[in-house]
Amino acid sequence: AGAVGVRSAGAHLEALQRVADQNGGNRAAGTPGYAASVEYVVGVLRAAGWDVRTEPFQLGGASHHDDTDHDDTDRDDTDRDDTDRDEERRAGRTDVNVIAQTRTGDPNRVVLAGAHLDSVAEGPGINDNATGVAALLDIATALGGAPDVPNALRFAFWGGEEDGMIGSSAYVEGLSRAERKTVRAYVNLDMLASTNGGYFVQGGVGDDEEESGPAASAEIAKLLVEQLRVAGVEAENVEFDGGSDFVPFAEAGIPTAGVAAGDGQRKSRADAARWGGEAGEVHDPCYHRACDTLANVDPTKFEAFTDAVAATLVRLATG
Ligand code: PHE
Ligand code: ZN
Ligand code: ZN
Ligand code: ZN
Repeated sequence: AGAVGVRSAGAHLEALQRVADQNGGNRAAGTPGYAASVEYVVGVLRAAGWDVRTEPFQLGGASHHDDTDHDDTDRDDTDRDDTDRDEERRAGRTDVNVIAQTRTGDPNRVVLAGAHLDSVAEGPGINDNATGVAALLDIATALGGAPDVPNALRFAFWGGEEDGMIGSSAYVEGLSRAERKTVRAYVNLDMLASTNGGYFVQGGVGDDEEESGPAASAEIAKLLVEQLRVAGVEAENVEFDGGSDFVPFAEAGIPTAGVAAGDGQRKSRADAARWGGEAGEVHDPCYHRACDTLANVDPTKFEAFTDAVAATLVRLATG
């Protein structure tokens, strides 16, 4: 077990798999599976003693279906049907982010961590991203609502990430300039257990701010790499690449870094030599598919990431 004493995340993964099973096989934003996911995390966080609320955001615009409003010509029929279904799922709907905070620590110095709580409509979303959610729930439970650290901790569970980071973008846009300044760091967790994946720490490196995030992102990334080393693995610090909920934070100038085991990209030879696994095969063979179930989880990666994030958050909340 890690220094913070995390180790019940498996139960949270099982609970979110059950939620998908009982709600048509997915937990996409705007669906009953997402609402049940919200209910589950709110219950766990309240039981852990955290201050919890839900914050609504607009998921989709007005309903329309005249198919002249967007260009379907570059997609095949299947893609077009998926796109239309996603549009209908969001149309005219609000959904919620779950925001939880400790009751101690200076609320003007907030260490924020987040994971998206929604899945795609095509599957249950267990590696993507029940793993990030379960890690945060485990850490919240281990710390309790009143940890003995000088800064406040805030955990966010985003909706609508799979629809284009809608929940996290709305959250950042909703912060006043003064509130933005209180957020000292944002740590993102997205896909922590990819079966053919690796140990990626995103942020703090690259030629420009789009790749690296704001300057102080490098310090957060360095802490994550150090704590992954403590957890027994050698991580790779990479640029922000592809969309996840770190994007709106980086764009707002809030220092941010993320952890990930990899999505639909193929594993390089160098990474296979370093971590094992199959070079040339994708990091997660069930990425955005119905087979992203409890069976699609590498527990070794999941534990190492959970321990490293727990220790990093405590260091950020202390320093
Ligand atoms: N955000 C992508 C998804 O949810 C995958 C991803 C994870 C991209 C981590 C970048 C970083 O499908
Ligand atoms: Zn259409
Ligand atoms: Zn995804
Ligand atoms: Zn994801």
